[in-house]
Amino acid sequence: MPITSQPGAGGRYQSRNPARTSEIVAEVDLGDAGTFVAACRAARAAQPGWADVPAPIRGRAIGHAGRIVEANAEALARLVTAEVGKPYAEALGEVREIIDTCDFFLGEGRRLYGETVPSEMPDKQLFTFRNPVGVVAVVTAGNFPVAVPSWYLVPALVAGNTVVWKPAEYAAASALALYEMFVRAGLPDGVLQLVLADGGATFKGLSDALDAGLVDKVGFTGSTAVGTAIGELCGRHLQSPCLELGGKNPMLVTPSAELDLAVEGALFAGFGTAGQRCTSLGTVLVHESRYEEFLARFSAAVSAARVGDPTQDVLMGPLLDQKFAERFEEYLGWIAPYHTVSGSTSIGRISEAQPRKDFVGDASDGLYYHPMIVAGVRPDDTLFLNETFGPLVGVSPYSTLDEGIALANAPGYGLSSSIYTTDPADVFAFRRGISAGMVSVNNSTSGAEAHLPFGGNGKSGNGSRQSGRWVLDQFTRWQAVNWDYSGRLQKAQMDVAELTADLTYRLPPR
Ligand code: UN1
Repeated sequence: MPITSQPGAGGRYQSRNPARTSEIVAEVDLGDAGTFVAACRAARAAQPGWADVPAPIRGRAIGHAGRIVEANAEALARLVTAEVGKPYAEALGEVREIIDTCDFFLGEGRRLYGETVPSEMPDKQLFTFRNPVGVVAVVTAGNFPVAVPSWYLVPALVAGNTVVWKPAEYAAASALALYEMFVRAGLPDGVLQLVLADGGATFKGLSDALDAGLVDKVGFTGSTAVGTAIGELCGRHLQSPCLELGGKNPMLVTPSAELDLAVEGALFAGFGTAGQRCTSLGTVLVHESRYEEFLARFSAAVSAARVGDPTQDVLMGPLLDQKFAERFEEYLGWIAPYHTVSGSTSIGRISEAQPRKDFVGDASDGLYYHPMIVAGVRPDDTLFLNETFGPLVGVSPYSTLDEGIALANAPGYGLSSSIYTTDPADVFAFRRGISAGMVSVNNSTSGAEAHLPFGGNGKSGNGSRQSGRWVLDQFTRWQAVNWDYSGRLQKAQMDVAELTADLTYRLPPR
């Protein structure tokens, strides 16, 4: 039965199962820009009261949210699979990521440490406090419809901010489910607001809310193009958003790599979530001495992988939504005559006319695409330089490690990266030279753990980091406190005692 919501001013929207597009998962009314602004206003009104709730108690609410999500893990994972076509095992992993985030931040409610700092003057003490930023507006994509939102919601709430969350429409049911669970964790009215709206209305609403002084921090996960527009908008208000954007994540396979491991890693990194993670593998750069062998083994592994019904045990299911399928079709146009495509029985959409060998289930009504390896991509190819957000991985040879690292950095993104090697010197040279915020050694480019800093550089973001204690710098502001109890005005840098030193002293010659 489709989930429905209250009437809205932005029209009606149907979120469909991408594995069976005739099946409606949720039918919702979208709001307009005014709806977004009204939510920000309500969040603004609720914020001081929420900030007054002691942080350990706010942390307990986050702990409760984690327990509610855990108790509903299978049902939520099934909903994610039905709505965005993510294989069930991955969807369960995604739900686990919410629980991990809640577990971490339950404790952070009891820390949110500030420091006591010595003063340069007597009878004076210095302190630092973390203050909430205020109202946080969060706009998220639907490829991780519940885990990635939790990376914003959880730390923002525990730090005493109120949150207005605008999820992807095509993941409306998953968003509504997560929202219901969080609200039931004991959050007071107004502390967390969910707004369903399309991209245009959201941007207008965000702009209006910033103009009205109702938003203090923006968090955005999505495309580099939209992230750039949000960055510009926030910059005009002297705000620095938390941006988590695209990636063209490289994997280097060095001469000493264990090829079986590298192939397994590339298979999951490239085709898990049908290549629609921001951390998905973009290009495998293989040392020329291993190139042919790697390519043959990788092609065999992709050809043999189970593709199809995401409720079954498959490597990949359909694309997230119709609009992603359309965009992916455009990317297929980037394949040039000098490229060699392998990994499946055809190119493009899986259909009766273009079947995939051993497809699991019925492809006729789903947004299923053939997984593709495109070999021989060159550094100036559009395909080499741009994210393709779908089941397509480029492969290219390199000769020296320096050249490999330069090729890995060339597209100008900088989210995730991976190196397969058994030589520690390669690892440290790669770590030093790669522009990515995240580096995996002998593991996939995707699959970051939920308590290490997550984020990118270049076209992948503005240097902001999510997760673990690092994300607190996004959702709090440091306040420095000077407390003078000497009973007089002591002037810093001026009324400071100095011990006398004899700087001319030298050891006697021997
Ligand atoms: C994303 O695709 O936006 O590291 C997030 C990973 C996941 C999160 C991906 N833990 O692949």
